[in-house]
Amino acid sequence: MIHHDRLLIIDFGSQVTQLIARRLRELNVYCEIHPFNKVDDAFLAAFAPKAVILSGGPSSVFAEGAPMPPAAVFTLGVPLLGICYGQQVMMHCLGGKVERGHGTAEFGRAYVTPAAGGLDLLEGWFDAGPEQVWMSHGDHVSAIAPGFSVYGTSPNAPFAITADPARRFYAVQFHPEVHHTPRGAQLYANFVRLAGFAGDWTMGAYREEAIRKIRAQVGDAKVICGLSGGVDSSVAAVLIHEAIGDQLTCVFVDHGLLREGEAAQVVTMFRDHYNMPLIHADESALFLDALDGVSDPEVKRKTIGRLFIDVFQKHATAVGGAKFLAQGTLYPDVIESVSFSGGPSVTIKSHHNVGGLPEKMGLQLVEPLRELFKDEVRALGRELGLPASFIGRHPFPGPGLAIRCPGEITREKLAILRKADAVFIDQIRKHGLYDEIWQAFVAILPVRTVGVMGDGRTYDFACALRAVTSVDGMTADYYPFTHDFLGETATRIINEVPGINRCTYDITSKPPGTIEWE
Ligand code: XMP
Repeated sequence: MIHHDRLLIIDFGSQVTQLIARRLRELNVYCEIHPFNKVDDAFLAAFAPKAVILSGGPSSVFAEGAPMPPAAVFTLGVPLLGICYGQQVMMHCLGGKVERGHGTAEFGRAYVTPAAGGLDLLEGWFDAGPEQVWMSHGDHVSAIAPGFSVYGTSPNAPFAITADPARRFYAVQFHPEVHHTPRGAQLYANFVRLAGFAGDWTMGAYREEAIRKIRAQVGDAKVICGLSGGVDSSVAAVLIHEAIGDQLTCVFVDHGLLREGEAAQVVTMFRDHYNMPLIHADESALFLDALDGVSDPEVKRKTIGRLFIDVFQKHATAVGGAKFLAQGTLYPDVIESVSFSGGPSVTIKSHHNVGGLPEKMGLQLVEPLRELFKDEVRALGRELGLPASFIGRHPFPGPGLAIRCPGEITREKLAILRKADAVFIDQIRKHGLYDEIWQAFVAILPVRTVGVMGDGRTYDFACALRAVTSVDGMTADYYPFTHDFLGETATRIINEVPGINRCTYDITSKPPGTIEWE
């Protein structure tokens, strides 16, 4: 099936717009977020949404050039849901009144009580009393538009929930998509049900659509893809290979900073199992020589990033006339890039990817995962038959072991680190903890310590174990291993890894720490 019912989210720049999409995807509804200034009458006609949601946003309807949807949104004859700023836009456009905040801004938790019954959007709400919601707004609606009635109020928001049921227009002042509106998902479920969505958007359907789109975009041109062995680039590669076969060539750059057995794993899987044209570029000598004597983390990252681009370009040129570069860009990356509030932010670490390549090489991008969240990429990977053990892999940073080796990187230290890391991950797997942990690894520390093994003195490296829980890598907490687990792991590492005689566990959260050591 190719044609699904589509829901359009018009984005006015709220930080949480992508969560609306998240809630809808959970309901198997296909939706797309588009910034308000890209949505005009022609777009609406072509998109043909079955329902429209107007997101929240930081603006004021009074501001010069305030973000507005095209008027046609109100005459499409489809259900409309306005959230926060979206509510104010609806009232402003439909004949109600919005007033400036004047200190009445309301942020945070509030409780809504029903003002009238019988609204289809609210089915199941208020059954157990007032509903907790999350408010975040400056201006407020002071008079609702003709045709609207009030269905829910909170102490500071007399028009918390309003609707014009005849036109199926709904407007809420709070954010039902956030965690702090615990039963907000129910409102979205009600909304898509009353709009008549079948809830038939599945990964199987996504796969078919994505393949069709890739073929249409690429035609008979060649595509290259930087395969890192991570989940995103792997899923993208498998999907694109399914669409265009050997027009795709993957380049796997081995910078000598991979984990034990990693290069072999990636090559076996993609070249042998999937039969994909794959260039295994063993450039470890180049990278490790360039990193010789480098101990500053930013210099390490920049060196690796620069060499990576050079090497990738060299091998990609050898493919001959590729016109497209495939990337495993995810939806959250795309959304961030249309954020209205994005200002200059401090660089904590220079993250390394193939950024800058498309312009340099005159390539167009193929990004078949642009519409997916991380867990959806995993679901798509399963749909494509990638092994579960591969899909569930912890993230691994582009600069690899270089940033787990504070101070100078030497081949000797890397070899020790690889062994210790393998033991730690083996321990975690043996205890059935791998899937509970966002990321786990060992860092080899630039200090030697004194120990005693057998009857002899040792003077070897110390290492730190790191294991964190996280939902997105932005914040993280250390994993609460039992003392028994930690003791057993330390014993194994010290016994099995020559070169390490001391083992510590890093219990720093992020912030203030970061996940990686550099
Ligand atoms: P930090 O260390 O900043 O890392 O807390 C957050 C997440 O990002 C990963 N990471 C990277 N991933 N290239 C990547 O592809 C990089 O340069 C990079 N640096 C950190 C890190 O492993 C963690 O999951």
